[in-house]
Amino acid sequence: MPTTSPGRSLAEPRRKPYGAPGTSPGADPRAAAAAVVEAVRDQKRSLDEALDMPRVQALADTRDRALVQELSYGTLRLLPRLEALVAALRHKPLKPGESDLEALILVGLYQLIATRIPPHAAVAATVAAARTLGRPWAAGLVNALLRRYEREKDALEAASAEDPRVRWLFPDWLLRRLQAAWPNHWQAICDASNTHPPMSLRINRLRTDRRDYAARLAELGITARPLPYTETGLTLDTPVPTARLPGFDAGLVSVQDGGAQLAAALLDPRPGERILDACAAPGGKTAHLLELADNDIDLTALDLDPLRLARVEEGLARLGLTARTCTGDAAAPEGDWAQGPYQRILLDVPCSATGVIRRHPDIKWLRRDADIPRLAALQGRILDAVWPLLAPGGTLLYVTCSLLPEENEDQVSAFLTRTEDARSNPVQAHWGQARGPGRQILPEAGGMDGFFFARLKRALP
Ligand SMILES: C[S@@+](CC[C@H](N)C(=O)[O-])C[C@H]1O[C@@H](n2cnc3c(N)ncnc32)[C@H](O)[C@@H]1O
Repeated sequence: MPTTSPGRSLAEPRRKPYGAPGTSPGADPRAAAAAVVEAVRDQKRSLDEALDMPRVQALADTRDRALVQELSYGTLRLLPRLEALVAALRHKPLKPGESDLEALILVGLYQLIATRIPPHAAVAATVAAARTLGRPWAAGLVNALLRRYEREKDALEAASAEDPRVRWLFPDWLLRRLQAAWPNHWQAICDASNTHPPMSLRINRLRTDRRDYAARLAELGITARPLPYTETGLTLDTPVPTARLPGFDAGLVSVQDGGAQLAAALLDPRPGERILDACAAPGGKTAHLLELADNDIDLTALDLDPLRLARVEEGLARLGLTARTCTGDAAAPEGDWAQGPYQRILLDVPCSATGVIRRHPDIKWLRRDADIPRLAALQGRILDAVWPLLAPGGTLLYVTCSLLPEENEDQVSAFLTRTEDARSNPVQAHWGQARGPGRQILPEAGGMDGFFFARLKRALP
């Protein structure tokens, strides 16, 4: 039975909600988006994992699933701003057991602020979604809050605009770290991290070339431009689902950010060499190494996570490439893969992923300050453990998608200091900027993700 709606505490005249039960076709994707946002925000699950939940996967229409994705990503991108609005709109917070309802209101506000969905349609579908979530009593509350936002948005937005969390859309701890590391760049980093990333492709040079593939895209009305600093990269003017990419299943092309596409060429694999990709999954760089070297290297792709390693195998099969995949801990080498020497090692270590927040906005709300020293310690252990497997004269490329010095230049500098036979082999390039013994790319709107690369050589005895 519906009880007194908490919406009435807003001193709103009680209005009939726009949507009647079962009349709004958009209710299911809104309810699903709220469940995804709640899973990330309140249950600290990853966005990828949350998007896999049955409520999302059960949506039959691919457009509904795309809408869930857009609403979930967008809401998590703007989270502090939306939370500040909910706090201003509500006189008292929702109860702890109502986190799904709060998530729905956040999703509702996101639509009004950042999408082209007509406000009346957004409100109607979001109100109906309260019923889909099993909270029919809350339809009035959702209706009242969203309508009030529409009426008073300027004042409501102005009230929280000065709050740094709202202005930069970052958690305080990460904002402090970025300000310390990048005193002249942190604002641009935050703004770029809050944009939609471009979709970039890596052409499989063993099956096609960039010009031909761009022509095939153009035939389908998909426009693309060459990705700077790469020979096989393209950036699409507008992202499309991979199912629309010609020859995707036949292995003509992979989706990979432009920054990620720099790694393989920096390691410079040569046919016939024995190479270790020590943190390989999901395998974008593994496949690129093989494509560059005509699929003619003895490549071992290692990862701690067997489920993620299965994605490497799927990718290699699709692209027609060959590597040995192994589950194992790069910080504690043992078994076959741990028998050196390797001429080259790619070490794309687990990291804070602060350079790829625009692709994974959940990182802002899942990571904690204490994760950074913990990750830095793990990276140091992996570096120390893998180094003895490198042949004298061999090259190791250390890679992170982090923007934090503890994981990047400080990490590599400390390694060089404590490792007698390690030498820096600096990366000279037109992209990024030198940082200690490595090179850093900052995320840039329309450009590349944030990456750090340091190339090390093992001295000959
Ligand atoms: C940044 S991702 C690698 C991305 C990959 N190189 C690519 O281009 O697709 C880091 C990977 O390291 C793996 N990992 C984490 N700890 C590890 C460890 N101790 N040993 C091996 N792999 C590890 C994670 O499972 C994750 O797949």
